[in-house]
Amino acid sequence: MFRSVARSAAGKSLLRRGYATAVPERKVAVLGAAGGIGQPLALLMKLNPLVSQLALYDIANTPGVAADVSHINSRSEVAGYVGEEQLGKALEGCDVVIIPAGVPRKPGMTRDDLFNINAGIVKGLCSAIAKYCPNALVNMISNPVNSTVPIAAEVFKKAGTYDERKLFGVTTLDVVRAKTFYAGKAKVNVADVNVPVVGGHAGITILPLFSQATPKANLPEEDIKALTKRTQDGGTEVVEAKAGKGSATLSMAYAGAIFADACLKGLNGVPDVVECSFVQSTVTELPFFASKVRLGKNGVEEVLGLGPLSEYEKEGLESLKPELKSSIGKGIKFANQN
Ligand code: NAD
Ligand code: LMR
Repeated sequence: MFRSVARSAAGKSLLRRGYATAVPERKVAVLGAAGGIGQPLALLMKLNPLVSQLALYDIANTPGVAADVSHINSRSEVAGYVGEEQLGKALEGCDVVIIPAGVPRKPGMTRDDLFNINAGIVKGLCSAIAKYCPNALVNMISNPVNSTVPIAAEVFKKAGTYDERKLFGVTTLDVVRAKTFYAGKAKVNVADVNVPVVGGHAGITILPLFSQATPKANLPEEDIKALTKRTQDGGTEVVEAKAGKGSATLSMAYAGAIFADACLKGLNGVPDVVECSFVQSTVTELPFFASKVRLGKNGVEEVLGLGPLSEYEKEGLESLKPELKSSIGKGIKFANQN
C-alpha cells in the first residue's frame, strides 16, 4: 500500500494511506502491560488505527507480550520495556499513557484495601510521566481510582506539570455495566443504550443516572434500585466469581480501550467526543468527581453538569459525598507525606 509522511503544523508527522484522510501519529503507553488487564488492553490498542506507536511497560514479562502483539498486521509499531531503567524510553513522546499497574482485589476486600500497595506504584509511575511525557493524557485504571487520581494530581503539581485537563480516572467500566444491565432489564438493543454514571469508582460512590438512560423504558422504582445496586457491585460480582484469581480484566480492557480511543479522537480534533470520567471538577463541592466530559485537543474541553436527577439519585448523590471526600483526601495526604 502507498504511504507517505507529511508534517502537521504541530510538528507531528501525519500518516497518509492512499486516499484516506491524514491520521496523526500517536504514541500510547500501557503501564502494567503484562497484567490481567494490560495484556488484552495491549491487544485492543494494537487494533486501534489511531495508534502509531505502542509502548508496553511492566516490571516483568513485557518482552514476550510485546513480541506476541507485534505480529498483528495493524498500523502501530510495538515495543516492550521492562524494569524501571526502561520506563523513560517507554514514556518519551507519549500522547496517552494508560495505567493498569498494581494489585487487584480478592474476595472480601474493598478497593481501598489496595491503597497501601497501589498508591506507591502510581506515585512512582506518575513521577516518571512528569519527567518524560508531561503533556500526555493520563488514563488511570489502578485502584482505588477515587484516591489514585488525586495522588497523580499531587505528584504532577509538585513537579510543576499538572494540567487538570489531562488527568482522567477511568470509570468507563461502570458505564459499560450500566448499559448492559439496563438493556437486559428494559429489553432494548444494548447498542442503542446510553447511561451516564457519575460520582466515583467504588461501591456507593458509583451513581448510575438511570433517569437519564436512553432509550426511555419507564422501569418501576424497584427495578431502578436493583440496577443501581448491581452496577455499584459489578466489580465485586466479578471478584467473587473469579474466587481469588483477580478482578475484572477482559471487560476492563474493553472499557479502557473505549476510553483511550475517545481521548485519541479528542486529540485528533474529532468534535463532540463525550465520555464519563473521574476528573478535577466543580460540578459538586468535591475537587474530583466523575461526570460526562467533552474531550478535545488538550484533553478535557468541558466538564458537563449532572442534568436533572430523580429524588432517588439526589439521595444517592448526597450519600456518596462523605466516602468520596475521604478517599480523595487520603490520596492527597499520601502524596504529600511520602
Ligand atoms: P494484575 O495483577 O493482573 O496486573 C497488574 C500488573 O501490574 C502486573 O503485570 C504487574 O507486574 C504490574 N505492575 C506492578 N507494579 C508495577 C509497576 N511499578 N510498574 C509497572 N507495572 C507494574 O492486575 P489487573 O487485574 O490487571 O488489575 C490492575 C489494576 O486495575 C488493579 O489495581 C485493579 O483493581 C484495577 N482495576 C480497575 C478497574 C477500573 O474500572 N478502573 C477495573 C478493573 C481493575
Ligand atoms: C471493577 O470495577 O471491576 C474494578 O474496580 C475492579 C474491582 O476491584 O472491582
